[in-house]
Amino acid sequence: MGKAELCSDSARLRPLAGCSIDDTPNITTGVVELGISQNEQQSISDLVGQYKALPGALLPLLHAIQKQIGHVPDAAVPIIANGLNLSRAEVHGVISFYHDFKTTPVGRHTVQICRAEACQSMGSRALEAHAKQTLGIDYGETTTDGSVTLEPVYCLGNCACSPSVRINDDVFARVDAQRFDELVSGLSAEEGVAK
Ligand code: FES
Repeated sequence: MGKAELCSDSARLRPLAGCSIDDTPNITTGVVELGISQNEQQSISDLVGQYKALPGALLPLLHAIQKQIGHVPDAAVPIIANGLNLSRAEVHGVISFYHDFKTTPVGRHTVQICRAEACQSMGSRALEAHAKQTLGIDYGETTTDGSVTLEPVYCLGNCACSPSVRINDDVFARVDAQRFDELVSGLSAEEGVAK
């Protein structure tokens, strides 16, 4: 369970509570193809084998792949499509529809800035501009050291204490540029301790 940062009006704060066989990447050569390793390709094929008989298998399969590999790589699409007898367009459509599915590796920490109305009215646009400049990345990207992935989010249930930011499972209230920098520095410090 993540924590939520309290503010003066904390009573209003709600804690967060048809592709052919030929389209399938070769998993027998031992060569890293299409940007994923042989092990990752084998894991995806194994999961397809486990889920393909399940009614409505696509969503739970995608979740299982993301849980195991950390994201759903593009190379997984033809393997899934072939295994579930779907078109690659169908598989890709579902992956792109649900924002929770990542198609590229994510950072060790996920930083989300609320872009919903209440937070915008309290300066979240300026905060996101600061965050992008400070981290040197845009939304959906990961810092070069693999530490932080920056994402937009649309309401964290913490509107009374806008602007709100979530870092991993924790929500922080009334975050300005200085507080943002402190929080991000804290992540680096934590990693230093962990090392
Ligand atoms: S609008 Fe940002 S937390 Fe609700």
